Amino acid sequence: MTQPKRIGVLTSGGDCPGLNAVIRGITRASETLGWEILGFHDGYEGLLAPVSYQSLSSTNTAGIMHLGGTILGTTNKGRFVAKVKHGETMRLGEDILSQVRETMEGLNIEALVCIGGDGSLTTAQQLFEAGIKTIGVPKTIDNDIEATATTFGFDSAVACVVDGLDRLHTTARSHKRAMVVEVMGRYAGWIALHGGLAGGADIILIPEIPFSYEHVFHTIREREAAGLFSTMIVVAEGARAKEQDFVTRKETGMQGEHKLGGIAPHLGDEIQKHTGKETRSVVLGHLQRGGAPTSLDRILGMRFGVAAVDLIRQGLFGHMVSYQNYLVSNVPIADAVKRIKLVKPDSQLVVTCREIGISFGDV
Ligand code: F6P
Repeated sequence: MTQPKRIGVLTSGGDCPGLNAVIRGITRASETLGWEILGFHDGYEGLLAPVSYQSLSSTNTAGIMHLGGTILGTTNKGRFVAKVKHGETMRLGEDILSQVRETMEGLNIEALVCIGGDGSLTTAQQLFEAGIKTIGVPKTIDNDIEATATTFGFDSAVACVVDGLDRLHTTARSHKRAMVVEVMGRYAGWIALHGGLAGGADIILIPEIPFSYEHVFHTIREREAAGLFSTMIVVAEGARAKEQDFVTRKETGMQGEHKLGGIAPHLGDEIQKHTGKETRSVVLGHLQRGGAPTSLDRILGMRFGVAAVDLIRQGLFGHMVSYQNYLVSNVPIADAVKRIKLVKPDSQLVVTCREIGISFGDV
């Protein structure tokens, strides 16, 4: 009797709402085909000794879809560093590659579904180049992965920002204050742009459009003169003033790179100092990554999971599921990890914001 096909899945990099929906989709679609599925723990680390995994079934993945995070656990980089800092790539060592091969062969796993962001997909690509059959599923709240219109997790993060802004508007207005809200997104401004627009921000500062402090102060003064005594400023963690560097936190990441963050308190202090306007700052931080996924992210996650199984069925290894024009399709992983996807300063959404009077701090 021939053995059923067996596949592996792992979640890697920062967690994000919707990961469990992908796991559910993969598990159910695999079962439908009569395949077995093993979920590796803590990202790629689960593939290395002591190998750590669990068998997945529709029974033990029941009731996980609405949960944030990932039931499999994750690791950001760990021993599988393929990308560092702002896009620099590194090659995985031969010792790591041979351990992965050994695990896959030892467990009789035909293909590995790697659910991850830019860095984790770069790892998936390097494994594929080394002869390991990988399939990519793009994951990020930042929405910065090329070759897919969006990823699950982004909508949930934006919903968190909008909820935060709704709450902050009422207190800012009551106290006639400026409020600076820092949101995630790394070097891309997608969360700030979408969250700021939906949450009624007056000023949105994103990495792709360097701002000038003077323009931000001017907008606040102008609003004051027009009788608008509170101002809501959404600032992406990667936003920076013209000719200035990114604001980073003191602590560094696992690979020694500086972590973005801290622009909101800094900008808040400057606003208060230069305009005399009472200002408060809030860093939304990991609230944006946690909690239940929105219905859109649950659906997208499940569709991605089912599509990943279909890519294995078709033998399209080294490919990643991708969302284009409301349809799930696929692209070579290599196309998705060449560069990160940034907001185009002249894009329709930016123009729309400007047309309703939102300032980007540049004019
Ligand atoms: O890439 C997702 C993200 O949440 C970024 O928006 C943020 O800069 C980073 O991860 C935070 O990473 P960590 O959880 O390691 O602090």
